[in-house]
Amino acid sequence: MNRRFLPAGAFLAASALALAAHAQPAAPPPLFAVCQACHESTANAGPSVGPNLFGVGGRKAGAAKDFDYSDAMKNSPIVWSADTLAAFIVDPNKSIPGNKMDYSGADAATAKQIADYLMTLKP
Ligand code: HEC
Repeated sequence: MNRRFLPAGAFLAASALALAAHAQPAAPPPLFAVCQACHESTANAGPSVGPNLFGVGGRKAGAAKDFDYSDAMKNSPIVWSADTLAAFIVDPNKSIPGNKMDYSGADAATAKQIADYLMTLKP
């Protein structure tokens, strides 16, 4: 073993501990990767196939300024909360009939995890 690498290793270990000690942004649940095929979710990103989901909690459905929504979504009275998001993720077409999000839905436990995660995405 080469001793010259020890200080670097010790530094990395200390950094990892320092990071662990601070509050970290919530990690996305593994299944959020499916959503990321169509959605950006960071403050500075624009729309993708679907609208950017950063700040979606508390927003009315179909209200991001830079995305061309279906009429179904634009006209929906839904305001996104942990509950309305979870219901939408379980069954998008039941929640907002006629919307154009091509996703068939997740089981309730997964949907809740993703919905709770989405609620943390805010400035
Ligand atoms: C195949 C692409 C695709 C996938 C996969 C997808 N979405 Fe979407 N999503 C869209 C599109 C397109 C819209 C806009 C629908 C419309 O205008 O009718 C949308 C809309 C939404 C909205 C409404 C946002 C708003 O501004 O009102 C939410 C919330 C959402 N998606 C969450 C998710 C989540 C969570 C997942 C993963 C479980 C997911 N989406 C997977 C394409 C996708």
